[in-house]
Amino acid sequence: MPVIPLDDHHWAITTPASTYVIGVEVDPLTGEAAPRQTYWGPRLTPEAARQVTCLPKRHVSSFSTPAEIEELLPVDGGTRWGSPSLQVTFGHARSLEPRLVEAGVHDEGGGAERLDVVLADAYHPFEVVLSVRVRDDTDVIERWTTVRCGSSGTEVVVTRLDSGNWFIPDAAAYRHSGVFGAWAEELQLQRGPLPVGELVFTSRQGVTSHTANPWVMIDAGAATEEHGEVWGVALAWSGSWRLTTTHRPEGGVCVSGGFGHDGVRWTLAPGEELVAPPVLGLYSDGGFGAASRSWHEYARRHVLPTPLEEQPVLYNSWEATAFAVTEAHQLELAKTAAALGVELFVVDDGWFGGRDDDTTSLGDWHPHRERFPEGLGGMFDGIRDLGMRAGLWVEPEGLSKESELYRAHPEWALHMEHRRRDEKRQQLVLNFARDDVREWALGWLDRLVTELGLDYLKWDMNRPFTQAGWPEREAAQDRVWIEHTRGVYRVMGLLRERRPGLRIESCAGGGGRVDFGIMRYTDEVWPSDNTDARDRQTVQHGFSQLYPASAMSAWVTDSPNITTGRAMPLRYRFHVAMAGVLGIGGNLPEWTSGELEAAAELIAQYKRVRPTVQHGLQYRLAGTPGQERSAVQYVLGDQVVVFVYNPLGNAKRGPRRLRLTGLDPEALYELEADGSRWYGATLMAGGIRPAAWEPIGADHRSEMVVLRKV
Ligand code: DGJ
Repeated sequence: MPVIPLDDHHWAITTPASTYVIGVEVDPLTGEAAPRQTYWGPRLTPEAARQVTCLPKRHVSSFSTPAEIEELLPVDGGTRWGSPSLQVTFGHARSLEPRLVEAGVHDEGGGAERLDVVLADAYHPFEVVLSVRVRDDTDVIERWTTVRCGSSGTEVVVTRLDSGNWFIPDAAAYRHSGVFGAWAEELQLQRGPLPVGELVFTSRQGVTSHTANPWVMIDAGAATEEHGEVWGVALAWSGSWRLTTTHRPEGGVCVSGGFGHDGVRWTLAPGEELVAPPVLGLYSDGGFGAASRSWHEYARRHVLPTPLEEQPVLYNSWEATAFAVTEAHQLELAKTAAALGVELFVVDDGWFGGRDDDTTSLGDWHPHRERFPEGLGGMFDGIRDLGMRAGLWVEPEGLSKESELYRAHPEWALHMEHRRRDEKRQQLVLNFARDDVREWALGWLDRLVTELGLDYLKWDMNRPFTQAGWPEREAAQDRVWIEHTRGVYRVMGLLRERRPGLRIESCAGGGGRVDFGIMRYTDEVWPSDNTDARDRQTVQHGFSQLYPASAMSAWVTDSPNITTGRAMPLRYRFHVAMAGVLGIGGNLPEWTSGELEAAAELIAQYKRVRPTVQHGLQYRLAGTPGQERSAVQYVLGDQVVVFVYNPLGNAKRGPRRLRLTGLDPEALYELEADGSRWYGATLMAGGIRPAAWEPIGADHRSEMVVLRKV
């Protein structure tokens, strides 16, 4: 079984390729219990894991605190001075002294086991439960924390509640990887030495944010794409969050992660509890590439709702029409899209209320009176008659001041008494922590989906929180930061339960809500509003570090690009988008007949390789995508698909040959283009010579290479 008791207070959590040993030690002098990580690395036998618990402990001096960084949840209290993972205040005492209550392993079925360690404060009726879930088919370990205010006590104020702290084993140096960004520039990979100190990545926006994404990876500085040990920590949460990586001056690194951000406080009344979302840990010894593949596999097995489905080729109207959505124009686009082989047609913003621009109507989810006097039924019937599925854009959390809904329910917006209601993108945020708001949202969403027979919703969210309060529910202050996100999850979950055929895409003004939390409820996510293929390569590279291609929506749009003004050949644009879930977002009536013909051919090619791209193992082969020659490979069963890119045509610097990876060395592979056959070993050692990488030629050359294992 995945959780092996080593003695009465140590457990080896075993995954297919790793072992994580934790124990609860009780200080004989103070009686304080400190659940601690003893080991996290390559898989050990139970005997070796037991020995690990007997190894000499780290040196602890009275002036520094290296011991606490190994704790599963360093609390604010006692001899700890680091960034606390749990901080609570009882009346005037802001300090916790945990005692062990019990620890036990629970079989959750389906190859999953859960270890719960229950602690309680020495004096106040306050419980902390540390939970660890491990499954037999993934190296990702899930952890979370529950805190409970005892019913016999008084209220407790929680100022920090992380889901877990992970200790990264000793090394001479450390390197940190993560992604940062901005609107239209999301998910930019950043990798560099980890300085001594506390490195905080956070969102204070109420959504995951464009500026950072809730994961970090740590290595000893020498891991490559294919080799080396990598430790990763990610948070499955779509609201505000904080990941603190502490590199102690005495050596030693830990990563503590959870929801919420600095300054937010949660009050627990007697009998109340607060459960933190899962923080995930992954150890991999195959470099960043293997780590990513393990994250992808985890997402497919345990996160995404429809991992076995092939995501359809969709068309989205946003870049072509913006808010000017009319039945005639959408059907004109739809006719061309269907002829190209598009399978799902999504009508974006502009179909409801009086929505002619972004100043108005969020909340008034009825068809635009002037543009759709007869409703939307005709448009969607027309789309279905063309043989496509039907999708629609919504922004259920958005609220325009200029709307019937706001006039009727100004109290439904997040707001604070005696404070302004700041607008961003000329809108407010609806408080999804409220039962009445959720009921209303579920009601109209369900009606919309049913009446129009929708197969797909693009669920957008276009602004961060401001004045995030709920004055009518004083006790709920600051809870809205959590309960709003949970409310969104709940509405999405209930909607899916009621309409099992419905598929959902997560979007937040581009890639503002890309995370393992939202992916439990959505089939795809939109990584960026920037559809320039060159820029998109960088975004996709960052995306692929954690998230699988099957969840990455990618459109081919017009050239020059609407955001960057850069012109690029159709093939390059397609080859970039074909590395994820291909979509089309251009103004098709403006495409030449030659472009439309080529597009149809490329869509047909995509469908032939789609299972491999969406469900195969992904290997980032070479180069910095978008900046130089690069390639990405996918393998599923007998098929191997490689996208090769060369943005700078006349660059003389190599590489010229592309070594493949992840193949069976002894098997023969046939190159689809010329029928030549090569051993996997040859392709991995000697490589292929892609035409797109030849030194003389135009900018933005690309190709798709397909091989079949004979
Ligand atoms: C932001 C999204 O990222 C875009 O794709 C588009 O849906 C607009 N919102 C619509 O307002």
